[in-house]
Amino acid sequence: KQVALGIDIGGTNTKFGLVNHRGEILAKGSLPTDEYATPEEFIDALHEKIQPLIEEHGTGKKIEGIGVGAPNANYYSGTIEQAPNLPWKGVIQFADLMSEKFGQPCKMTNDANAAALGEMMYGAARGMKDFIMITLGTGVGSGIVSAGHLIYGHDGFAGELGHTIVKPGGRKHWSTGSEGSLESYASATGITITAKKMRAEFPDSMLNQYPEDAINSKTVHECAVKGDPVAIEVFRYTGQKLGEALANFVMFSSPEAILLFGGVIKAGDFILKPAKLHMERNLLPIFRNKVRLVFSELDEADAAILGASALVWEK
Ligand code: BGC
Ligand code: NA
Repeated sequence: KQVALGIDIGGTNTKFGLVNHRGEILAKGSLPTDEYATPEEFIDALHEKIQPLIEEHGTGKKIEGIGVGAPNANYYSGTIEQAPNLPWKGVIQFADLMSEKFGQPCKMTNDANAAALGEMMYGAARGMKDFIMITLGTGVGSGIVSAGHLIYGHDGFAGELGHTIVKPGGRKHWSTGSEGSLESYASATGITITAKKMRAEFPDSMLNQYPEDAINSKTVHECAVKGDPVAIEVFRYTGQKLGEALANFVMFSSPEAILLFGGVIKAGDFILKPAKLHMERNLLPIFRNKVRLVFSELDEADAAILGASALVWEK
């Protein structure tokens, strides 16, 4: 009866779960990521929350190991390096710090890679050998699976598709300083920026009924559902930028499907339809009408936990 600890570190929240060999989550919990000034303080808080769970559910009070998915995580070195949406800067020896605190081996991968692994083992990508996972949350992440394997590349960071440029010379990224990245348009953060700009141009928009700090992808969705044309345009534009990027990604690795995942997909067809339109429009004809655009199947909170825990069973 083996149990692994899977952890998904996000820009805003961190989720964790104890997972058995069959991919069943026996217990889970979460804590805010952005409230801890240093990774050490964060790991202390994590340990305090998780230790009781391990004692309760861990077989023989023991777990087999820890798997962590995190932004800018490196599979080879177990580090987190200069993550644009995390409070901690520099190169963090995260896996080592975790092993020390928990007394367990710890492996790491990028958070979107973990979500891709989770979907591949237990969700919408079961049986697929070539697909791309795109996570749309605080940031935009990706996991590229080719011939049944995640692509890690020479340095262990492959698949940072959120930082590819969809509009040369475009919007300046709040953290990296790059201009016109997919993340600066299609993340929840990017949608908020778009919405604030557009509502300022259109005083009649329903979006102007909210205070500045209440504008986010959720409130834009509320207005879009009520038929506000400006809110609908915010999502259409977001979907267009996403679709143009997806066309590039399809031509790069010829996936059978693209999985979309994360808080932003709650906007559903408002984003999916323009994304599909602009993906197809920009594809070389040999790729057209072949690639499925699908939403992730697993509960958002679970996919990355499951994928991260799967690292523990890897040889
Ligand atoms: C990071 C990625 C991460 C994504 C989603 C991006 O800003 O560079 O590593 O996968 O955010 O968290
Ligand atoms: Na990745």
